[in-house]
Amino acid sequence: MLYKIVRFFFFLFSPETAHKMAFFGFRLLQNIPFVLEMVYRYNHRYDKAITVFGLEFPNRVGVAAGLDKDAEAFDALGAMGFGHIEIGTVTPKGQPGNPKPRLFRLKKDNALINRMGFNNNGVAVAVKRLKKRKTPIIICGNIGKNKVTPNEKAVDDYVSNFEALYDYVDYFTVNVSSPNTPNLRELQDKEPLMNLLATLQEINNAKPQRKPILLKIAPDLSFEQIDDIIDIVTQLKIDGLVASNTTIERSGLKTDASIVEALGNGGLSGKPLKNRSTEIIRYISEKTNGQLPIIGVGGVFSPTDALEKINAGASLVQVFTGFIYEGPQLIRTINKAFSQL
Ligand code: FNR
Repeated sequence: MLYKIVRFFFFLFSPETAHKMAFFGFRLLQNIPFVLEMVYRYNHRYDKAITVFGLEFPNRVGVAAGLDKDAEAFDALGAMGFGHIEIGTVTPKGQPGNPKPRLFRLKKDNALINRMGFNNNGVAVAVKRLKKRKTPIIICGNIGKNKVTPNEKAVDDYVSNFEALYDYVDYFTVNVSSPNTPNLRELQDKEPLMNLLATLQEINNAKPQRKPILLKIAPDLSFEQIDDIIDIVTQLKIDGLVASNTTIERSGLKTDASIVEALGNGGLSGKPLKNRSTEIIRYISEKTNGQLPIIGVGGVFSPTDALEKINAGASLVQVFTGFIYEGPQLIRTINKAFSQL
């Protein structure tokens, strides 16, 4: 009920303004350690820890990438009940992203369309903030490439992010599936993907202690393409998949087609993505006999949605659009449901 009032207020503003206002609140919270601790304790009371790819997560619910692109609010988001967070996508150099407006609410569909385009301040800024990390939750560095970097040189960008973040995050997600950086998704093709992941894995294996590396995939891949990806990640011993990123599909929406078309390009997230992402999770899980860890993301708005993803084969779930529409209590209720499993 309280969040409905908060949401009514936030939804009076543009999505990006509302995001800035929420982050102002998060930063305030982070500056009052006593309150932060109280909020953490309240929201984590149903935690049931789980070990996935060698890391112990306080619970199964995480923040999907893109919400905290610049690692500004991981302590506050940790206190909201999340057990892990993917900061980023970060790129080696800061970049402004696409022109505004670039983020839209589809209220009738409980969805968002975004074409942010990896707006972020660059990996060095994220590292500076991560050095002051207080939260005990797991932090992942979601890494990407700068828009100006051609695909042939993309590996260099991923490597430079990897090296910069290595000491400050618990695991990595390689993002080659955002629809908002021109040609980025081509890096999901067999040859460039093999090259990228093999390079990162080699560097990782040469470290005194390697860190888990996951790959985030698009929901618009065919099952054939997913088969190729499974082959590559299995061969290279990549630690898992994050399924999935936003979709370029627009079918089955309640919002008027002309309105949707007028909004233009971008990735669709939220409820309309739920079934496709779950379908992909189930497919990967069956293909790999449940041996490849999967983080399920896409359209989680309730404990039932989250359980669907776990039952399909995910070990962890992540939330973005559902958090905007349902608020922090969603995370608590999902964790409560999981604690009773
Ligand atoms: C995203 N997402 C995203 N993913 C990613 O890997 N890197 C990123 O920078 C972003 N940025 C981003 C911005 C915005 C505004 C949205 C809505 C989404 C995708 C996100 O992590 C997630 O995969 C999808 O949104 C699907 O989950 P939900 O939103 O349906 O819970």
